[in-house]
Amino acid sequence: MDMIFHDLTITDADFQRLVKFIHNNYGIDLSKKRQLITSRLSHSLKDRGYKDFKSFLEHLFTTKDPQDLELVLNKLTTNYTYFLREKEHFTFFRDTVLPELAQRHQRDKVLSIWSAGCSSGEEPYTLSIYLKEFFGNQAKQWDTRVLATDISQQALAKARAGVYQPPADMPSEWLRRYFVHNGAGTEYTVAPAIRDNVIFRTFNLMDPIHFKLKFDVIFCRNVMIYFDQSTRDALVKRFYDAMNPNAYLFISHSESLGQTPLFRMVASAVYRKK
Ligand SMILES: C[S@@+](CC[C@H](N)C(=O)[O-])C[C@H]1O[C@@H](n2cnc3c(N)ncnc32)[C@H](O)[C@@H]1O
Repeated sequence: MDMIFHDLTITDADFQRLVKFIHNNYGIDLSKKRQLITSRLSHSLKDRGYKDFKSFLEHLFTTKDPQDLELVLNKLTTNYTYFLREKEHFTFFRDTVLPELAQRHQRDKVLSIWSAGCSSGEEPYTLSIYLKEFFGNQAKQWDTRVLATDISQQALAKARAGVYQPPADMPSEWLRRYFVHNGAGTEYTVAPAIRDNVIFRTFNLMDPIHFKLKFDVIFCRNVMIYFDQSTRDALVKRFYDAMNPNAYLFISHSESLGQTPLFRMVASAVYRKK
């Protein structure tokens, strides 16, 4: 029996077709990721009875089968994330952004915060915990729900389940207050008060942004790194149009908006709408 699993083959033309399809529809640039494509998809394709990429791609492109599409997005997105990632951002959010927004919204008591490209939920739940800490027993008088969106159904399912092995640097006070220990194991579930303050939705960042409210804060960290420059620029403009005046845009420390007339930098990887 052949115990070694070989990746399925993909021709140059099929590779280019798939790269173009992903780029045009989801912004992700996989033009240098041939190995990643074959290694991440081969097993699932084989399980579904495909002998090569050609027959799978024929099926995908002709039927636009939602299940095939979901598989491709689950496998080809990179969902790496963790609680309190780039912690300085959350410190800035707590010490600068929240006091300012609480002041500005003292009448309507509605904040609009978006975690765009939320992956498995650690980022929006971290925000939800900071909101709870900040508003304390006033939280019920405020609408501070965090919108959290992604295109990977697998990541969103994990996010909605809210079950994690918290990292070693998670404050023990947080574990006690904002998580429920699942039996004797190492897993914890996000407590209802934190979970109910996050709304998870499927949303493709290539689409026009038409949410009910303009945003006060957008976190879009470690997402645009997978896009090319023109896709990034177009998304930044859509963010701009979807934000309130002076709203905050957080990107990751490994990204930059470059020279833009739309935003000014106010802290490392933190921008404000002009
Ligand atoms: C590396 S994770 C970032 C998670 C979190 N923001 C963080 O910084 O830890 C990138 C996420 O962006 C999502 N993504 C990529 N392209 C997208 C698109 N066109 N629309 C929505 N989400 C997208 C991926 O599915 C993935 O979950």
